[in-house]
Amino acid sequence: MQDKVIIFDTTLRDGEQAAGTRLGAGEKLELATQLAKLGVDVIEAGFPISSPQDFEAVSLIAQQVVGPTICGLSRAVEADIDAAGKALKKAKKARIHTGLGISDIHIVGKFKDDKYGKTLKDKKEKALAMGVKAVKRAKQYTDDVEFYCEDSGRAEKEYLYRVIEAVIDAGATTVNIPDTTGYSIPEQYGQLIADIFARVPNVQKAIISVHCHDDLGMAVANTLAGVHSGARQIECTINGVGERAGNASLEEAVMAIKTRRDFFGLDTKINTKELYRTSKMASEMLGIAVPPNKAVVGNNAFAHSSGIHVDGFLKDPLTYEIMKPEDVGSPQSTVVLTARTGRHGLKHRLTELGYKVSDDRIEQLYQRFLDIADKKTEVFDEDIAAIVNDQMRTVEPVFELQYLHVACGTGTLPTASVKIKIKGKDAPMIAAACGDGPVDAAYEAIKTAIGQSPKLDLYSIKAVTGGKEALGEAIVKVIDNDGVRFTGRGISTDIIEASAKAYIDAINRMVGKAGTEKPEVKAEL
Ligand code: KIV
Ligand code: ZN
Repeated sequence: MQDKVIIFDTTLRDGEQAAGTRLGAGEKLELATQLAKLGVDVIEAGFPISSPQDFEAVSLIAQQVVGPTICGLSRAVEADIDAAGKALKKAKKARIHTGLGISDIHIVGKFKDDKYGKTLKDKKEKALAMGVKAVKRAKQYTDDVEFYCEDSGRAEKEYLYRVIEAVIDAGATTVNIPDTTGYSIPEQYGQLIADIFARVPNVQKAIISVHCHDDLGMAVANTLAGVHSGARQIECTINGVGERAGNASLEEAVMAIKTRRDFFGLDTKINTKELYRTSKMASEMLGIAVPPNKAVVGNNAFAHSSGIHVDGFLKDPLTYEIMKPEDVGSPQSTVVLTARTGRHGLKHRLTELGYKVSDDRIEQLYQRFLDIADKKTEVFDEDIAAIVNDQMRTVEPVFELQYLHVACGTGTLPTASVKIKIKGKDAPMIAAACGDGPVDAAYEAIKTAIGQSPKLDLYSIKAVTGGKEALGEAIVKVIDNDGVRFTGRGISTDIIEASAKAYIDAINRMVGKAGTEKPEVKAEL
């Protein structure tokens, strides 16, 4: 038995059957070109009889995409097979994929008409004969004929064996055993493939192919069980897109075979470094987003976040990674900073960003970091820079904001109340005020509480990072009685709080007569 697994990609046929997707011939050609670069063995380019557009797409791909075998789908009816044959005419290597439903449910449901026979037994014989006839007709166009036994996962086994034997005798070079409805359990599907090898006398004359759907989330597991039992072609789609819950995902199946070579002892021809790029391209073209936790190609597939994992990963990536991101063409592994990231992770990122942080300062920074991380889902590099910058500027504060409440809205008078701790005094100062807007009201309340009225020279606010939870950075300049300017800065996920902090920071500098020069961001702390 060969130790190479043939990768049959059906993104452009079964994948495109996903609800709400439709690709034009040009787009299909673009994706097929990338699939060739990825190194797939067979591209199922479409179902030529289904529409003039699909016919055109298959013809275009057959003419222009070199490397893989180009395949067209057909039902086991003459017109379909002829359309596929015509569309594939210019292909260097062409395959016709024909077949029919062979489970009792499919035969009873689809072949209702008496012309197919009156009893189930008769209808099954008729279906078998149609299958054989279809293979023979497809053979007139190409030697490479694949036969699909639709709904094999629910078929009567003895009948399935007979169909396989008959279509191989008729010339089928590949026989596809689809679990069309995603009904199978891996042990069961693996056993089905093993039984086919044991029970079909001429099975060695053809390649047995697995084609699994994901209705119960087991498409890849079933595919791998089939491969383990001897199937040497897998039918899959990029990102697992497809009819209903989709098909087996190509990137997952391929990386499982590669990563667990110790178990399977098999190879594919896939250039795995192209997986990430192909996944992105398919996702954009089909308009189907890749979930962040998607294996192999999801944004979080190589992202580490919790303290224990980050610590282990930074010591040795093998502790928490079984594949290297570069092997699938994915951007480098990342440490995503969240509230669960420990000090080690934060320190590592600070070092990466060029900050040299002493151990006593890391604790202060970590507390600020936790404060922000509790309010945001992810803390970005820009947030870290803002925290460091803010921390570096800190003068020994005379005034400290302990409480801020602002009420405002359409048709109301903005009012603010503040509680400010003053260095050396036990009781905090409390004040309330109104203003033209929420920031103005907060500033008026602060002025009243601390008994200082510096002139406001400049106020600006900007988002440090994107998204609705972004950190807001407020910069405030105040002028003292001698005309000297002092710059204050405040950051928070709440822009009113950032504004109040910036104002108090500027006043602290004024009171402490701290310099106004903005220090370099990248510095030793
Ligand atoms: O799922 C299925 O049975 C199919 C066949 C048409 C191959 O997609
Ligand atoms: Zn399918």
